[in-house]
Amino acid sequence: MEKIRVLIPEEEVDKKIGEIGAQISRDYAGKEVHLICVLKGGVFFTCELAKRITIPVSLDFMSVSSYGDDTKSSGVVRIVKDLDESLKDKELIIVEDIVDSGRTLAYLVEMLKDRGPKSIRICTLLDKPSRRVKAVKVDYTCFCIPDEFVVGYGLDYAQKYRNLPYIGVVEGVE
Ligand code: IMP
Ligand code: MG
Repeated sequence: MEKIRVLIPEEEVDKKIGEIGAQISRDYAGKEVHLICVLKGGVFFTCELAKRITIPVSLDFMSVSSYGDDTKSSGVVRIVKDLDESLKDKELIIVEDIVDSGRTLAYLVEMLKDRGPKSIRICTLLDKPSRRVKAVKVDYTCFCIPDEFVVGYGLDYAQKYRNLPYIGVVEGVE
């Protein structure tokens, strides 16, 4: 077993998600939002966020995979599971676990734009701005973190630790 050090405790994550949910509810007052959950990492955050949004919410899920190993993304993105519903005239919010190099989101935004949504915004639980390779405009960020490999709240290390209710750092992983 790896050793996990708590970086952001559960209460802090939950409080921040509540704040972001309230902000989205204000920003989109009188409208409806369509949340696009990026699987698998985004699923815990998407559910918690959706519960905190007080305007009408619909949800869809997609799964993308970047060619590369577990801890580094190569920049080539492949759709593993596409969305079920049309995006035509919807107010989209793409919900991600973490923005790292920015490659996944840069690719996704371009692809989803072509499907005719009314608007696209990005909401992420975590951001590692020091690692950015591709510029992406992130509209809602819960936490900016240093360049450390993190797990929990949907994020995995070799498919484990997604279920941790806090954000932790795996000790000894580059
Ligand atoms: P990007 O295309 O480099 O921004 O890749 C983002 C994806 O890499 C995320 O959706 C995660 O799946 C993965 N990732 C990046 N950093 C971490 C981390 O610290 N822990 C777990 N997964 C990470
Ligand atoms: Mg991910």
